[in-house]
Amino acid sequence: MLNEQNQVELQWNQVDAEAKSNIGMPQYSIREVTGYVLVALNQFDYLPLENLRIIRGTKLYEDQYSLAVFLNYRRDGNFGLRQLGLRNLTEILSGGVYVDQNKFLCHADTIHWQDIVKNARNNPVVVPTNSSATCQKCHRSCNGRCWGPKEGQCQSLTKTVCAEQCDGRCFGPYVSDCCHRECAGGCFGPKDTDCFACTNFNDSGACVTQCPQPFLYNPITFQLEHNPGAKYTYGAFCVKKCPHNFVVDQSSCVRACPSNKMEVEQNRIKMCIPCTDICPKACDGIGTASLQTAQTVDSSNIDKFVNCTKINGNLVFLITGIKGDVYHNIEALDPEKLNVFRSVREITGFLNIQSWPDNMTDLSVFSNLVTIGGRALYSGISLLVLKQQGISSLQLQSLNEISAGNVHIAENSRLCYYDTVNWTSLFRAPNQKFLIRNNRGPHECSKHHMVCDPLCSDAGCWGPGPDQCLTCRFFSRGRTCVETCNLYEG
Ligand SMILES: *[C@@H]1O[C@H](CO)[C@@H](O)[C@H](O)[C@H]1NC(C)=O
Ligand SMILES: *[C@@H]1O[C@H](CO)[C@@H](O)[C@H](O)[C@H]1NC(C)=O
Ligand SMILES: *[C@@H]1O[C@H](CO)[C@@H](O)[C@H](O)[C@H]1NC(C)=O
Ligand SMILES: *[C@@H]1O[C@H](CO)[C@@H](O)[C@H](O)[C@H]1NC(C)=O
Ligand SMILES: *[C@@H]1O[C@H](CO)[C@@H](O)[C@H](O)[C@H]1NC(C)=O
Ligand SMILES: *[C@@H]1O[C@H](CO)[C@@H](O)[C@H](O)[C@H]1NC(C)=O
Repeated sequence: MLNEQNQVELQWNQVDAEAKSNIGMPQYSIREVTGYVLVALNQFDYLPLENLRIIRGTKLYEDQYSLAVFLNYRRDGNFGLRQLGLRNLTEILSGGVYVDQNKFLCHADTIHWQDIVKNARNNPVVVPTNSSATCQKCHRSCNGRCWGPKEGQCQSLTKTVCAEQCDGRCFGPYVSDCCHRECAGGCFGPKDTDCFACTNFNDSGACVTQCPQPFLYNPITFQLEHNPGAKYTYGAFCVKKCPHNFVVDQSSCVRACPSNKMEVEQNRIKMCIPCTDICPKACDGIGTASLQTAQTVDSSNIDKFVNCTKINGNLVFLITGIKGDVYHNIEALDPEKLNVFRSVREITGFLNIQSWPDNMTDLSVFSNLVTIGGRALYSGISLLVLKQQGISSLQLQSLNEISAGNVHIAENSRLCYYDTVNWTSLFRAPNQKFLIRNNRGPHECSKHHMVCDPLCSDAGCWGPGPDQCLTCRFFSRGRTCVETCNLYEG
């Protein structure tokens, strides 16, 4: 919808030709601007915004102005903005006006800006109070207020001329000439369907405070009942259906769901529904789509994994990622950043760890990882932990399925607990194997008390403590194994 643009910026900063193309057709039909209008550094002599009725000012230029027009002339010549020509502009709902340094501009000083700016007391109106001597007078029918010199360019006043009883705008001086309170800019008559523009929402031509809601209260049954006439809010309009590519969030059409909701399709309508816990978010893995050319997780790409619950592809940790890669100007990875992987529940491909920060002794950043899909494999392997001298426990406490591919855990001189896990119980395909060798010997581990907590069952554990058990010997509370169960502790 052309009349529903967020903001208009006409700014001459490249070449003349482009400035000309800026004033092409579309601007002529703009009737409403949601944000602000900025016209700066242009050289054309008029603005193509004759039909502009209302500037809502939901976003302001420099946090103050919803109409800003400055420096529109060429220093070395006679080119420049000569008239504003905004003959239909009668409402600025929020923000002020700034008009300055337009050497050739006429008539801006004749405009009654307080009639246009809704709240002139709180919004700055900075406009020249004189114009050059060469300016023509307003046409005599205009009572001295005009946007340009012609007869049809008079400013129409819709507020300061109203009877005291009107609480907004009017179409004449009498009490009976007040506009409906939902009108913006003015009106042709007293009804909510007679408005020039709507302060809030346009419901099939009538200005309303809110669109027809999805539920109505029935005072007889004391119940909320489905409203068959419900409409969605879409910008300043009420619509029966959200436009293509928009999603329904409660009773509004939105471009994307907020971060605490996810998009689902119900009855062929795309909707946002609240996520339980954290919202599912699928991300590309190393070697896939946007990370097609990446070799490893590194400081340049780790931020792409924020809030991901599913990795489509693989996660690979190589020394060039963890320690940095001077040849490619990649800085070392801040170990703290690895915590982004705490949201990951599924990796569809493989997890390949050939480098890890020196002082991180476990893989607990993957403590929520449930499934490794093995849809892509690395030499037949879907889980590889190789030659990590710092890791003493895996701590993959949620892992319960490795759907395909082999497990290879080798040459990790400090690693314990690995031998207590029944790897086959994680496998789903008949040909899967595990190759686990040259880690810390089980005897060495027990000698240093690196054994499963006594509250773990014989099924083993991923690391020290009662929260790393595969299953519990007695009872579990949440993820932790406990000796007894009592009501007070849950
Ligand atoms: C301005 O509004 C009037 C109605 O008040 C309309 O007839 C006219 O087409 C609009 N546009 C221009 C450029 O005057
Ligand atoms: C308006 O008045 C100011 C101050 O007197 C002056 O500097 C400026 O040149 C005048 N503007 C025009 C367009 O004449
Ligand atoms: C309301 O929207 C319709 C088109 O959807 C338009 O024709 C009409 O002029 C609008 N009314 C107001 C007051 O903006
Ligand atoms: C991650 O999720 C949090 C909480 O839901 C949210 O505040 C944040 O904006 C999200 N960040 C990104 C990059 O998605
Ligand atoms: C690991 O080392 C880094 C950098 O040397 C340091 O910032 C971080 O605090 C250390 N982390 C732990 C858990 O010791
Ligand atoms: C490991 O799990 C598999 C499949 O669940 C089972 O058949 C096997 O007996 C288990 N091995 C041990 C040593 O418990």
